[in-house]
Amino acid sequence: HLELMKSMKPGMYERDMENVFCQYLRNKYYTRFWAYNCICGSGPNSATLHYDVNNRKMKDGDLFLTDMGIRFLGYVSDITITIPVNGKFTQKQKEIYDIVLKANRDCIASMKPNITRIQDLNVLSKKIILQGLQDIGIIKAGMNIDEMYNAGLWRTFMPHSLGHLVGLDVHDVGRNVTYKSMGYLEDGTFITVEPGIYFIDFMMDKAETDLNLVKYLNVEKLEEYRGFGGVRIEDDVLVYEDHVESLQKDLPRTTEEIEQFMANNKYN
Ligand code: GLY
Ligand code: MN
Ligand code: MN
Repeated sequence: HLELMKSMKPGMYERDMENVFCQYLRNKYYTRFWAYNCICGSGPNSATLHYDVNNRKMKDGDLFLTDMGIRFLGYVSDITITIPVNGKFTQKQKEIYDIVLKANRDCIASMKPNITRIQDLNVLSKKIILQGLQDIGIIKAGMNIDEMYNAGLWRTFMPHSLGHLVGLDVHDVGRNVTYKSMGYLEDGTFITVEPGIYFIDFMMDKAETDLNLVKYLNVEKLEEYRGFGGVRIEDDVLVYEDHVESLQKDLPRTTEEIEQFMANNKYN
């Protein structure tokens, strides 16, 4: 993923990023297997969850969301970064990114082996996202977060759960351990933490015409985000007996870290 940040520039195609990833891993590690089709969505395509057409030319000012993983010794990884194509986030992009990063960081920080129920993390991530959207005015001020969560408003912006187990398959199965079950994190659990905010046309249309949802929204403000795309930040987190560790803890993740890394390490 660092290679992607070094290579990225406006005018490249999404598939060029897929090539950077695959060629780097092939050359360096003789990688032969991928965990799933590379997801390389720029601009509006970043709002499509499993977009893998990867044929759009990336423009100055776009966000680029890439979700790629490899298979190594039988086990897979599943990592998402969202970066600005030109190396610099706009204020609007930064605001959305920071909400998603807070959800990612706060969820990982609250993961306690044998104490945290996985479903509670899922709920936490969605409430952080609703709160963040309220703070920037897309959701009306003063309205109750628990109430809009229960009404299902989270689905408009993050229509997937916080993550899934990873292992022999990218969406692996385990003993009663999913974000929808009452299972606890336990020693050996390997799970993704991948909150996101997406501005998906049909989800926006649906919310704006649903009386139970539209009452929470500043529709005019929300409309400013049509075509914005999406942001997802995905870590693979390993649970030990008494702590957890993100295997992506050393990636540049804050907007400042990403901008700095891209400015200082460009190949071209
Ligand atoms: N790569 C698909 C997912 O994040 O679940
Ligand atoms: Mn993924
Ligand atoms: Mn995933």
